[in-house]
Amino acid sequence: MRIGVAGVGRIGTMHAAHLASLAAVDEVLLYDPIEGRAEQAAAVLDKARPATGVTGLLEQADGVVVATPTDTHPTLVRGCLAAGTPTLCEKPIAADLAEMAVLVEEIDASGTAVLVGFQRRFDPAVVELRRRIVTGELGPIYHVRATGFDASPPDPAYLPTSGGIFRDLLIHDLDAVPWLVGEPVAEVYASGSVLVDRAFADADDVDNAVALLRFAGGAHAVLHGGRHDPLGYDHRIEVLGGMDSVAVGLDPRTPLTSLEPDGPRVNSDAYPGFPERFRRAYRNEMQVFVDVIGGRADNPSPARDSLVSLRLAEACERSRRTGAPVRINDGDGGSTP
Ligand SMILES: NC(=O)c1ccc[n+]([C@@H]2O[C@H](COP(=O)([O-])OP(=O)(O)OC[C@H]3O[C@@H](n4cnc5c(N)ncnc54)[C@H](O)[C@@H]3O)[C@@H](O)[C@H]2O)c1
Repeated sequence: MRIGVAGVGRIGTMHAAHLASLAAVDEVLLYDPIEGRAEQAAAVLDKARPATGVTGLLEQADGVVVATPTDTHPTLVRGCLAAGTPTLCEKPIAADLAEMAVLVEEIDASGTAVLVGFQRRFDPAVVELRRRIVTGELGPIYHVRATGFDASPPDPAYLPTSGGIFRDLLIHDLDAVPWLVGEPVAEVYASGSVLVDRAFADADDVDNAVALLRFAGGAHAVLHGGRHDPLGYDHRIEVLGGMDSVAVGLDPRTPLTSLEPDGPRVNSDAYPGFPERFRRAYRNEMQVFVDVIGGRADNPSPARDSLVSLRLAEACERSRRTGAPVRINDGDGGSTP
């Protein structure tokens, strides 16, 4: 199988390396408009070679990974749909809800597989967590806690374009947690503060945030996240059910020091960032993509689900700004009661 990668920046380079490591992949084609970038990446990877333009990818590849800046995603995905080429597009597939809704209709009408790169859905521990929820091994879900803290804040120049903390950072858990619980969110309440750097206030954003989600069946989830954790990159999801209580992301590299005599101590090996924390997830994401192309797996991250997380992120942003809970009505993403 031959897979193309459009965009050989931070995340595209990683995807290309994982693709090249897969037995099912014979060749990885790379394209990036920055001169020399695809050639440079191909030189250090087995099975990789540069291609000429996105058309070069579409003419030769059995599937394309879109790892370009967000504003280019709709055009590139439409090119893949026109060619009937299965696609894995980095999140978000579109920056804005109205544009995303139109694109999702086109994707569904095309019948072409489009997977969205929400990597938690491909993380083996999260996949196992979902299996236990779906099979009822945890019993009825009472409560979910999701923790997502970056080690250090992004470049201040990025902040005005980020879309804010809910669309940029908490979006991953706004996608994963409803997918895990398997029920619609009925209401959200969110709050945020600037505690790390005034640059967030200058960008009309916050650097620490909490979102409370109430599900239709009565379970709650608390999502909390922020832009600075002095010990490292921390992502965990903990689920308490009537029959069991389980966690993902709790391991010897979790940046958390227990004050109990026999509790874990953080060491120098704490996760420094998302590429290390989600290494297994990103590799599995590429494996699942080739399995979907080969007809051996279902798409675990369909484009339509991206509408749910983006609507929730917008509702959280509204709640943070108004200080009021926001009801989520099916189809409109939330309205203040
Ligand atoms: N899932 C995740 O964990 C995760 C993490 C980081 C970034 N992302 C997403 O991945 C995307 C890329 O982010 P990044 O940090 O790798 O960006 P980046 O700027 O490091 O890389 C983007 C690359 O795309 C190239 N490019 C621009 N236009 C192109 C086009 N039309 N065709 C082909 N290549 C083109 C650029 O030259 C650049 O090399 C963004 O949408 C971002 O939201 C997802």
